[in-house]
Amino acid sequence: MESNVVRFNQEETPLFDSLKNICQKEIHSFHALPISSAGHSDILPAQRKEDFCLEATITDEAFDNFFFPKGVISKSQKLTAQLYNADNSFYITGGTSVANQIAITALYDKEDHILVDKNCHQSVHFHSQALGANVDYLNSDLTAEDEQIKAWSLDKLTTTALDKQSKGKGYDIIILTAQSYEGLIYDIPGVLSHLLKSGVSTRKFFIDEAWGSLNYFCDDTHPYTVMNIDHIIEQYPDLEVVCTHSAHKSLFCLRQASLIHCKGKSVLPHKIEVAKFRIHTTSPNYPILASLDLAQSCMYQYGAEMALYSRTLVDKFKASVSLDPQLSFLNTDFELFQDQKHILHDPTKVMVNVGKISDASVIKEKLLQHNVFVKRTLNKHLLLNFHIGINELAVNALISALSTIAREFLINQNDVVLNISEKFIIPYPPGVPIVFPGDQINDAVTQKIKTYEEKGLLVIAA
Ligand SMILES: Cc1ncc(COP(=O)(O)O)c(C=O)c1O
Repeated sequence: MESNVVRFNQEETPLFDSLKNICQKEIHSFHALPISSAGHSDILPAQRKEDFCLEATITDEAFDNFFFPKGVISKSQKLTAQLYNADNSFYITGGTSVANQIAITALYDKEDHILVDKNCHQSVHFHSQALGANVDYLNSDLTAEDEQIKAWSLDKLTTTALDKQSKGKGYDIIILTAQSYEGLIYDIPGVLSHLLKSGVSTRKFFIDEAWGSLNYFCDDTHPYTVMNIDHIIEQYPDLEVVCTHSAHKSLFCLRQASLIHCKGKSVLPHKIEVAKFRIHTTSPNYPILASLDLAQSCMYQYGAEMALYSRTLVDKFKASVSLDPQLSFLNTDFELFQDQKHILHDPTKVMVNVGKISDASVIKEKLLQHNVFVKRTLNKHLLLNFHIGINELAVNALISALSTIAREFLINQNDVVLNISEKFIIPYPPGVPIVFPGDQINDAVTQKIKTYEEKGLLVIAA
């Protein structure tokens, strides 16, 4: 009997080949993972990619214990905690999906009631369900862009929490997402302050700040960060506040590098350590750990400068859009929920309206042909993330790609106009028009023009 099983050439390395091919293209990514452009920063001294690839067989004795560190991992985590103003920080090498599970497990006590922001990442929803927790959802009451962007008002959150309390027991834990991929940043210290002053009894808060690590390094965003709550902790020392960062999304860290920070009751660090022990792989990835250590030093030295530089590049891009006639089809004015004082827009996330020429998904595809990668689109908008891996070269490549796409668009538009001719089209000799203004240029006419040209006649539109 003939087998239907397709056998592949065992020597092939399809995944490696594809990745190598992608990496060799040096694509400018306006999505995430600044490290993908390591070595090309306009700010940092030259970096060697090999520094991020340290692998070793040794464990505890010669290195440190990942779960209960006392040596170099402990020291590095303390340096990171210092940088973010956390009581303690923890390194995670399984991405923020794992970090979120650890954070929730650490805070959760059996029978706890949890209020979960519906906009939270899937890891939050899956894990709170897996714990068998009593979960209520915080629905968004603010929407924009055909409901593609959702948020909650402070009033919605406060009344949801107080309503629960009025029926008996309040929420034990509140879980929120601090920053959306689209760049909506919630003023978390302001939100916590408001909740507590309003009489909300919750004392355990987990805030997913996956996209917000860079916010700690610029004055315009720092006040809204989760660890900026010393003044609140002073008033409410029984608080337990945990947040997570996808370090690879906004720092020079390897994929799956993640941070947990905490502040509040003294038992909290131990609870996180135990939860990490229960959930994290027992084979932490050393290159990722090394990248987290390098990142803390790098951000300490250059974080503020890089955050500021990202804003300069945003300004440069926006100025090009408004001054360059080729780019006049674009619009970068994008303000959402301006009347909501607890929400602001991350200045490094730029929404570009391309609706005048096409759907955003079409422009996204065209940009990739020019080695510019954009991940998120709304119907008419591209989201450009000016992370710290974006350099001047990338911005120039973006501007040049958009100009080319615009030119193509204008040519096509002229073609449409030319379908009904505004001019005489005259082959010479004999100099007798074959098309008059107002005539339609159909396929037959186009063919006729081509034949004249092939015969070496001059064809003039006048
Ligand atoms: C808000 C948020 N939290 C958590 C995660 C999960 O992070 P990771 O992909 O590192 O597991 C993501 C991923 O995009 C996210 O956007």
